[in-house]
Amino acid sequence: MKLADYKATLSFSNGSPAVDMPIYQGNIGPDVIDIRKLYAQTGKFTYDPGFLSTAACQSTITYIDGDKGELLYRGYPIEQLATNCDFLETCHLLLYGDLPNAAQKVDFTSRVTNHTMVNEQMQFFLRGFRRDAHPMAIMTGLVGALSAFYHDSTDVHNAEHRDISAIRLIAKMPTLVAMAYKYSVGQPFIYPKNDLSYAGNFMRMMFATPCEDYKVNEVIERAMDRIFILHADHEQNASTSTVRLCGSSGTNPFAAIAAGVACLWGPAHGGANEACLEMLEDIQRMGGVSKVGEFMEKVKDKNSGVKLMGFGHRVYKNYDPRAKLMQETCNEVLTALGLENDPLFKLAKELEKIALEDDYFVQRKLYPNVDFYSGIVQRAIGIPVKLFTGIFALARTVGWIAQLNEMIGDPEYKIGRPRQLFTGSVKRDVMPIAKR
Ligand code: CMC
Repeated sequence: MKLADYKATLSFSNGSPAVDMPIYQGNIGPDVIDIRKLYAQTGKFTYDPGFLSTAACQSTITYIDGDKGELLYRGYPIEQLATNCDFLETCHLLLYGDLPNAAQKVDFTSRVTNHTMVNEQMQFFLRGFRRDAHPMAIMTGLVGALSAFYHDSTDVHNAEHRDISAIRLIAKMPTLVAMAYKYSVGQPFIYPKNDLSYAGNFMRMMFATPCEDYKVNEVIERAMDRIFILHADHEQNASTSTVRLCGSSGTNPFAAIAAGVACLWGPAHGGANEACLEMLEDIQRMGGVSKVGEFMEKVKDKNSGVKLMGFGHRVYKNYDPRAKLMQETCNEVLTALGLENDPLFKLAKELEKIALEDDYFVQRKLYPNVDFYSGIVQRAIGIPVKLFTGIFALARTVGWIAQLNEMIGDPEYKIGRPRQLFTGSVKRDVMPIAKR
C-alpha cells in the first residue's frame, strides 16, 4: 500500500488536541485512514459494528466495485474467468496470484487429483451423525476433523504445510460433500475417479451408484464448474473474515476453514440460496406468479419480517455480476434438461422484473445477488435444497484458504482482537443471596 500525499486530522470539540492520521491508497477502491495509533494517541476507540467502514486487512486477491457491479479475481473480471477458464485454473489464480500456463495446469490438476480420497476412518466419523442431520452440520464437523487425520499439514506457520493443506482441502471438499449427501439418502459412498474433471468427478460421487455406469452430462458439468468459479472468493465477507480471525490465533488451516463453513451456514450469507429456493417454493404453493404482488407487499412491510431472499448485498449496489452469469447458466441447464417451462424459473424472473421496477428496491439499490438463480440451477441438476450451502462451502474453500495464507504471510498480521464500547454494569459487589 502507498502512503497518500494528504492526511486526515481528527479534531475534538472538547478541547482535546487534534491528531493527524496517515492515509494509504490501494491500487483501486477507497483510500483508508490508518487508525492503528488512535488509541495510543487519544485513548479512544472507533465504533463500527458490522465493519461498515473498516478495512480489516490489505489484500491482493479479490476486488469488488459494488457501484459498478464488478468482481475481479486477481484483476481478472469474473465474466472472463467464467467463460474462458475452469475452476481449477481459478483455484491456481486465487492461490498463487496468476492463471496457470498449460504445464502448470497439468501439474496443479495432478496435485489436486492425487488428494481427492479421504482417510477411510472419516467414514466412521460421518456415520456418527443422524441420517437427517443438516449437511452443513456434517460439513462443519468433517472439515474440522480433517485436522485429526492430516497431522503433517497443520502448522500454519510452515509454508509447505499451508500449501499441502490448501491442496488437500480443495481436493477433499467434493468428496466430503458427496459423502454427506450419500449418507443422507442411505446410498454407498462413491470413491473419486481421477480421470474425470473436478466438477465431473463431483457429479459422479453424488449421483453414481455401484450398480450402474455413470456418464457425466457435459452441460451439467459445465454448470457445476461455473457455480464453483462464481463462488470461489468474494473478498472480506463474513465467512472469510471468520476464517482470518480464527486463523489469526495460529490455529491449523482445517480448523480455520471449519469456522468459515459454520459462518457460511447462516441465511444472511451462504444459507441464502437455500432460503431463496424455499421462498420460491412457498410462493409457488400459494399460487405462483399470481401471488407475486401480494408477496412483494409483505416484503415491503417492515413489520412482516419477510425479505426477498437472493436480493440485496452489503457491497453490491448494482446488479451482482455473478447473478447475470448464473441466470445464463440457468437458461442453459433448464434447456438441456427439457425444463424450459420450469415454474420456479418463471416465478424468479417475474419477481426480479417487479423488484427492479419497484421504488422500494430502486431506492435501496437492491438487486439480485448470486443466490437468486443458483438454487434453481442446482435443483434442476438434482442437488437437494439442503445441500446448496454445502456446494457453496466446497467452492469457497479455495478463497478462504487463499485469504488465510495471504494473512499469515503478511508481515503486519496480528491476532484479531476487536475492542468494545462497554454499556453494561460498572463494578458492583455481590450481595448475599438473601439480600438479592
Ligand atoms: N428484501 C427486502 N428488503 C431488503 C433486503 C431484501 N432482501 N435486503 C435489504 N433490504 C432493505 C433493508 O430492510 C434496509 O431497509 P431500510 O433502510 O428501510 O431499513 C435496506 O434494504 C438496507 O439493508 P441492510 O440490511 O441495511 O443491508 P445490509 O448490507 O446490512 O444487508 C444483506 C445485506 C445481504 C444481509 C441483505 O440484503 C439481505 O438480508 N438479503 C437477503 C439475504 C441474501 O440474499 N443474502 C445473500 C447475500 S449474497 C451471498 C453471500 O455473499 O453470501
